[in-house]
Amino acid sequence: MDLVIKGGTVATAADSFRADVGISDGRIVAIAESLDASDVIDASGKLVLPGGIEAHCHIAQESATGGMTADDYRSGSISAAFGGNSCFIPFAAQHRGMGVTETLDLYDSRATGQSVIDWSYHLIVADPTEKALNEELPAAFARGITSFKVFMTYDLMKIDDGQFLDILTVARANGALTMVHAENSGIIRWISDRLVKAGHTAPRYHAVSHPAAAEIEAINRAITLARFLDAALMIVHVSTPEGADLVAKARLEGAKIFGETCPQYLFLTRNDLDRPGMEGAKFMCSPPVRDAATQDALWRHLQGGTFSVFSSDHAPYRFDETGKLANGPQASFKQIANGMPGLAVRLPLLFSEGVRKGRITLQQFVALASTNAARLYGLPRKGSIAVGMDADITIWDPDETRTVRVEDQHDAMDYSPFEGRELTGWPVTVLSRGRRIIDGGRLIAESGAGRFVARERPDFTGYPGGRAAELDPAFNFGAEIAP
Ligand code: URP
Ligand code: ZN
Ligand code: ZN
Repeated sequence: MDLVIKGGTVATAADSFRADVGISDGRIVAIAESLDASDVIDASGKLVLPGGIEAHCHIAQESATGGMTADDYRSGSISAAFGGNSCFIPFAAQHRGMGVTETLDLYDSRATGQSVIDWSYHLIVADPTEKALNEELPAAFARGITSFKVFMTYDLMKIDDGQFLDILTVARANGALTMVHAENSGIIRWISDRLVKAGHTAPRYHAVSHPAAAEIEAINRAITLARFLDAALMIVHVSTPEGADLVAKARLEGAKIFGETCPQYLFLTRNDLDRPGMEGAKFMCSPPVRDAATQDALWRHLQGGTFSVFSSDHAPYRFDETGKLANGPQASFKQIANGMPGLAVRLPLLFSEGVRKGRITLQQFVALASTNAARLYGLPRKGSIAVGMDADITIWDPDETRTVRVEDQHDAMDYSPFEGRELTGWPVTVLSRGRRIIDGGRLIAESGAGRFVARERPDFTGYPGGRAAELDPAFNFGAEIAP
């Protein structure tokens, strides 16, 4: 064995137990009461967890209006690793007029040689041409990109319901998971125009301009479209109790519907958007942060299993003219980039407020941090601690207390929306395929140490689904409509 992690408490999504973990050639090769090797990490008093998998973050990505995220694959992966992650899945964003293959090649050039941890991409599909649907999406799937993302809002990114059905059809035929940003764009445009006309342009009006109803309607429609075809769907960044209820109901009924929420919806409220001057811009994301009652309800859904994934939605735009203030210090809420950073604190926030405060179990923490993402996004060698798995491991000190400071995030940002929070439970060592990435608060790995991971078919076991009768030739007078 190349390396043994000794004396820790191993925790998976199923169990916790005292064991040593032996690693050889980047894989876990032994789990036993006592193991030895020339290279030993002492994990006594610590938890030995599967490395976090950050399944929703925006890295080296242009928005549709041209703004570039502050983090590239080097700074983004380093920040993720300091936050206990050994793998991440940012987006490769197709914009209108771009081919899918061209998009993936572009992101390969941005990530290769830069990332310190393993990575893949979710493919954002904004231009579902015939070529994209018939040739390029199946080719992307064969290349290991087994999840696609669509937007129901944002003028330059959104697809209509027919295009959504086309993408879901291709995804279903290939076994891919489609992710959706679900907000009703008509409601948002209607209310935003009225707010601006009346002079209500401060960041706080962002919360008003993206009402709960916009999310609830769009989640309902997205689930309806996916269930019509029996396609698998992940509703990302759910921010409303009613939206979460819709996800829970569909799951109970056996549909392949999955949900994600994010720290901002559990830890921030619309009062943060109402901070003085333009400070509220730091807390602008879509859908917006809501209120304390919403936070309580989303914690209940996290505990009850509605959400399979808990992701940062790290969308780093600095609080300066390169990011939030690109349209000037008086810009209206409509002109301010959406998104906030959080790669490095996703897991400490969930551990400190979830596990330490008894809201979720340690096993649920592991599932939300890593295991469920591995299963749903096609990473069967990651997400657990077992013989044969990649040695992607985070050694976690459950008792260490630190205060969140922007300078400790190791990203390219100039603020953290969680600044000043005291959190207990932090990663101390992160291994990716057996290599030390972070150790004792220091970055060990070189840029480019991570690898692109060709992902496999997502695992939807347990969700039998079923599609609309009108698509069944036995019911629709023999019409072959969708494969
Ligand atoms: O406001 C957010 N979440 N910005 C990032 C892009 C997105 O919608 O996921
Ligand atoms: Zn989104
Ligand atoms: Zn996002």
